[in-house]
Amino acid sequence: MTAEEVKIKNLTINDSLEEEDVVTPWSVESTVDTGIDYDKLIKRFGSSKIDEELLQRFEKLTGKKPHHFLRRGIFFSHRDMHTILNLYEQGKPFYLYTGRGPSSESMHLGHLIPFMFCKWLQDVFNVPLIVQLTDDEKSIWKNIKIEDAITLAYKNAKDIIACGFESRNTFVFSNLEHIGSNPAFYQNMIRIQKCVTYNQVKGIFGFGDSDPIAKISFPPTQAAPALSSTFPFIFKDIKAHCLIPCAIDQDPYFRMTRDVAPRIGHPKPALMHSTFFPALQGSKTKMSASDDNTAIFLTDTAKQIKNKINKHAFSGGQATVEEHRKIGGNCDIDISYQWLRFFLEDDERLEELRKGYTSGEILTGELKKELIDVLQKVVATHQENRSKVTDGTLQEYMRPRDLGFISKK
Ligand code: TRP
Repeated sequence: MTAEEVKIKNLTINDSLEEEDVVTPWSVESTVDTGIDYDKLIKRFGSSKIDEELLQRFEKLTGKKPHHFLRRGIFFSHRDMHTILNLYEQGKPFYLYTGRGPSSESMHLGHLIPFMFCKWLQDVFNVPLIVQLTDDEKSIWKNIKIEDAITLAYKNAKDIIACGFESRNTFVFSNLEHIGSNPAFYQNMIRIQKCVTYNQVKGIFGFGDSDPIAKISFPPTQAAPALSSTFPFIFKDIKAHCLIPCAIDQDPYFRMTRDVAPRIGHPKPALMHSTFFPALQGSKTKMSASDDNTAIFLTDTAKQIKNKINKHAFSGGQATVEEHRKIGGNCDIDISYQWLRFFLEDDERLEELRKGYTSGEILTGELKKELIDVLQKVVATHQENRSKVTDGTLQEYMRPRDLGFISKK
């Protein structure tokens, strides 16, 4: 595609001629150091803000303090969360659905965010979780061989399971392997495909005339797991509600799903959207699987973590210590602080760091040290958990089976 074509495509998706952030499932770009303007995105996408009132209702109903991702606005937007809370209030079950496009062998820290959140939601609500590995998607978009994409899906599945999910209520599957053995899945894909025109899919995703039809027919594959009848071995004939935690770039898929679901006899899935986890080099840039220095991988050693952060973490501090002490640092653009918001659970400590850094009392090196300590622990724990996930464990999570959904009704 030429630069002009890319521009036209993004304009179609963004519906505007202004210089706006680009947020699509394939590209996320902003022009300022503070990153994407998320409030604007809520307006543009027509979703709702996760506000104080929703969090209070959440806490009142569940008796649990909202996760720090919620308290800090990392999961910041939603669709129909009140419907989910109503169901919970009435003692009716629902299920969680999320996924991952396995494009690299080793996942990085940013990939953990939706799974950490799902684990917590699962514990709070005691509901099943379905994890879709879109190896088909990655094979199509990244031109990876089918066989290799499946291998990546399996490797990533181990990292996902290592986040603490239990096999009694978690089903993980690879599209390329599972769909062919599950007629209900294919049938729902066709039901969805019948409801969406080429014009609509072009408008939603920006596909062009020269895109392979594999891309054009992919979205129903990601939509289908949001309908409970896709998994008869879990839900029998129950039309269960679905809640999808995901990064906001995945919303186009689910806008389409929400439009189609009622037309084929299903409730619209509810959603919780997260912000993006910024690259080490700053919120303007993206983490890239091809540049090792933009992210911390779950396979990195303690030493690599330390070196990457010390060398590459974008600093919101001043050029000299004297200046820094005088003017202070800018937490809004400082990656060490931004990453600590994701991984340092202790609210008081985080606030101490924010105040200290902003006033200039805390130096960039000290903030980095704090982040290094936190992440070395997170990654070491993950590596230990992952080493316990054997091929046999994997098979258990990936086997289509009853997850005890019915008995809880
Ligand atoms: N398309 C997503 C990705 O590339 C993977 C995915 C599939 C997903 N189903 C999902 C993500 C549901 C969130 C929710 O990462």
